[in-house]
Amino acid sequence: MANLIVVGSQWGDEGKGKIVDLLAKEAKIIVRYQGGSNAGHTVITNRGTFIFHLVPSGILYRGKLCVLGNGVAIDPGGFIEELDGLIAKGIKVGRNLVISHRAHLIMPYHKAIDRAAEEAKGARRIGTTGRGIGPAYVDKMARIGMRVGDLLNPQGFKRKLEDNLVEINSLLRHIHKTNGFHVDKVYEQYMGYAQRLQGYIADVSLLLEKSINQEKPILFEGAQGTHLDIDFGTYPYVTSSSSCAGGACTGTGVGPTKIDAVLGVTKAYTTRVGGGPFPTELIDEIGENLKAKGQEFGATTGRARRCGWFDALLLRHAVRVNGLTSLAVTKLDVLDGFKELKICNGYRYQGKLYKEMPEDLDILANCTPVYERYPGWTTDTTGITAYKALPAQAKRYLDRIEELTGCPIDMISTGSKREHTIILKSPLVSKKKTSKSRR
Ligand code: GDP
Ligand code: IMO
Ligand code: MG
Repeated sequence: MANLIVVGSQWGDEGKGKIVDLLAKEAKIIVRYQGGSNAGHTVITNRGTFIFHLVPSGILYRGKLCVLGNGVAIDPGGFIEELDGLIAKGIKVGRNLVISHRAHLIMPYHKAIDRAAEEAKGARRIGTTGRGIGPAYVDKMARIGMRVGDLLNPQGFKRKLEDNLVEINSLLRHIHKTNGFHVDKVYEQYMGYAQRLQGYIADVSLLLEKSINQEKPILFEGAQGTHLDIDFGTYPYVTSSSSCAGGACTGTGVGPTKIDAVLGVTKAYTTRVGGGPFPTELIDEIGENLKAKGQEFGATTGRARRCGWFDALLLRHAVRVNGLTSLAVTKLDVLDGFKELKICNGYRYQGKLYKEMPEDLDILANCTPVYERYPGWTTDTTGITAYKALPAQAKRYLDRIEELTGCPIDMISTGSKREHTIILKSPLVSKKKTSKSRR
């Protein structure tokens, strides 16, 4: 039995959905703890391709409980659409889904502010997903947020909405020169959502405690990634939530002593969507190759992902700030056929060598990566499920990732399907030693 946090170790899209779906088989509860429908988690099974934005990636199994914790920002309209999409595909959605009374709601004005603020930033824009995430968390921190529980109290909901719209409409009309929102229209729309969602609302912390007492394993599904975290990411080019492992506790109401292990998901190379520094980015043919072979287009916005070499500094930072107990390395198959592979193990900036992630964004934006070179492999690794079947060069590459990060690899993903995975050890058991002995 173990309660496991699955967290992105890079800039998101590491393949968390695939890994969570796979591990969900062994868990009882799968819970999202932060972010919102900015996330796009892809799961491919013999029932088809699913892209989850808010619904946890465990929903495809029967007998599992899927939960949205208080740390999630819920766009109720998008959420209902997602549920309807699943129901249309024959997936059971009902008593197997719970949303926290304390979770904050994304309001239509959050999306409007998100778009307008990005436009106003011009070249310095973050490249957000436009889902209203930043403005919703701003309201949460400003203590004027609308919460899921407010949907159950129509009068209170309307009063809060009226108060909020005074300031927000002024901001939209006078600063952003765009349209404001009408109280009654938003109220009616959200009361419609309330009808549909009221049956799912519960005290998530209490529910998870019961499960912990019964020793039922909980899987915490991180969205985004370590370097998009509001505190530990490449601020300000980040999202507005705590995507690191710590967010799993504050985002669900489970204490840190109840967490057994933290699995970091990382691609065998690096990608990023949106703006911000990316030292190992490849703006050349190799980068284009990675993009084409890895199908690197965003699951939420369809935007092309920027691609680059694996960066050990990003990972060492992720191991530290999340307390990672093991790694899942995904998309190894995408590296098939590259003559030479590079791993960044330092940044050079103004004559100084950095071996750890610099906190200063200017350094990150202007440094030169220092690379180690490794021979590639020519054989096809797609779908390999046994470690011993990997080419020697791939094993060497993976060994070096373990050495440079100081973190054992438990899982290696060799394709987008559920079964395209090498499982060296189930990360649902915590441990610290390296994985070489397990091969
Ligand atoms: P998430 O946001 O971390 O869940 O990741 P996304 O779903 O946004 O992006 C990961 C993409 O890579 C998806 O299209 C997955 O189907 C795909 N994927 C995951 N693991 C592998 C793998 O090992 N090999 C290949 N080729 N594709 C993978
Ligand atoms: P998953 O869970 C990759 C990025 C956006 C932008 C920045 C801020 O699928 O890994 P936001 O809309 O959150 O205010 O945008 O964060 N971003 C992601 N990038 N994967 C994600 O989620 C992301 N969610 C947000 O591109 O740069
Ligand atoms: Mg994604």
